[in-house]
Amino acid sequence: MDYTALYRQKLTTAAELAARVENGWLIGMDAGASQTPTILSALAERARAGAVSGVRVQSLLDVYPLEFLADNSLFGRITSKAWFSGGGSRRAVNGGFGDVIPNYYRDIPGHIRRCYDYDVFMVSVSPMDSHGYFSLATVSSYSPAMMEKAKRIFLEVNDQQPRAVCGTQVHISQIDGLIEVSHELPVLPPAKIDAVSETIGGLIAERIDDGACIQLGIGAIPDAVGAALKSKHDLGIHTEMFTDSMVELIECGAVNNSKKQIHRLQSVTTFAFGSKRIYDYIDDNPGIALMPVDYVNDPAVICRNDNMISINAALEVDLWGQVCAESVGTKHMSGTGGQVDYVRGACQSRGGKSFIAFASTAKDDTISKIKSILTPGAVVTTSKNDVDYIVTEYGVAHLRGESLSSRARQLIAIAHPNFRDELSFEAKKRGIII
Ligand code: COA
Repeated sequence: MDYTALYRQKLTTAAELAARVENGWLIGMDAGASQTPTILSALAERARAGAVSGVRVQSLLDVYPLEFLADNSLFGRITSKAWFSGGGSRRAVNGGFGDVIPNYYRDIPGHIRRCYDYDVFMVSVSPMDSHGYFSLATVSSYSPAMMEKAKRIFLEVNDQQPRAVCGTQVHISQIDGLIEVSHELPVLPPAKIDAVSETIGGLIAERIDDGACIQLGIGAIPDAVGAALKSKHDLGIHTEMFTDSMVELIECGAVNNSKKQIHRLQSVTTFAFGSKRIYDYIDDNPGIALMPVDYVNDPAVICRNDNMISINAALEVDLWGQVCAESVGTKHMSGTGGQVDYVRGACQSRGGKSFIAFASTAKDDTISKIKSILTPGAVVTTSKNDVDYIVTEYGVAHLRGESLSSRARQLIAIAHPNFRDELSFEAKKRGIII
């Protein structure tokens, strides 16, 4: 088979692929840098001209400036049905022109296989190899499930995408149309690690032993923990999102994956997002495996590594230990993502621990993130039955297996001093502290 000839037959333009999209189509895309901004931009142009309507797009962590997530006049012509209300879809959801499908990230492939048929799956890939394969580069996630359920596959072949040798691949024979592009991948601006995050990073690092296996979530605090782990030895990585701080830990020698029980000597992730440094690290590197999320985020898989440590952030926590990481009241901020998957997986691992960490206050010390009750409308991400450690710059509370009264006392002790009296008063009034 002459794969190059097949490639040439399928090579076309973004406008031509956009013109193939019909009214009412369901389009599937995966996370972050795997999305196809050029084809979607051409599609937005058609929608604006009134040439297509009723198109729905499922995606996750939209980091490109996609028109249908910014321009509410496209609502109904191209409508977002996001798996995660972070990135661009947050604005669309809060603006009333985007929809969200609640989920645990590990369950998305199952929902896809059970509930959806896609008219097209669109994905950005690295250039074709000599065997006719394209690497899905920075993402594995739920792409295999979407490809199984899609009638067609369109590619944006970007020569700046890395080739993940231990990642998901798609073959030229499976493709219905492709375009060539050359642009830099989206970059996650480095988180500002301030004194508070540094203190929290230190408190968590003290509780992580050499040889542990780590997952770091999204936000400044997980990044600060990454920075605080540089003096450790023989760490392993089994994580949902592969980040810049993990590349630093590998390059400084703190991570070598030598003590893992599964995937020894390899970092395991389901997608990568950060700076060019990450994308360069992935390129042709057998030391990192990008695997489907129904495997990577399955608590039964996560816990197979001993001393599994998960570190995630939150927006607020009540005195029972219910964790909100998705909304400020009714305002969407994010999705559940893999937080619960990793809290559960880490707690089931021998020697494992799960940390939810955040600065004690928001908005210049005017709002306590430890609350007597959650703000009305707040989404409970991690339940009181799953929560393990809560960390602020004032210390560490260990809630798992503890009574409501002990939880309240411990949480008040790590709240900002300005709010402790008020929290104690409320707790006593409600009879939580006995
Ligand atoms: N009340 C009011 N505003 C609050 C607040 C509160 N309790 N807590 C935070 N905020 C505001 C902050 O001031 C900030 O506002 P700004 O954008 O105007 O500066 C904004 O909300 C974001 O807060 P911040 O603490 O900086 O968020 P972050 O970038 O560290 O991300 C999460 C925190 C919880 C949103 C993020 O970790 C997340 O998406 N988690 C869910 C998914 C997950 O955990 N996945 C795990 C695997 S990757």
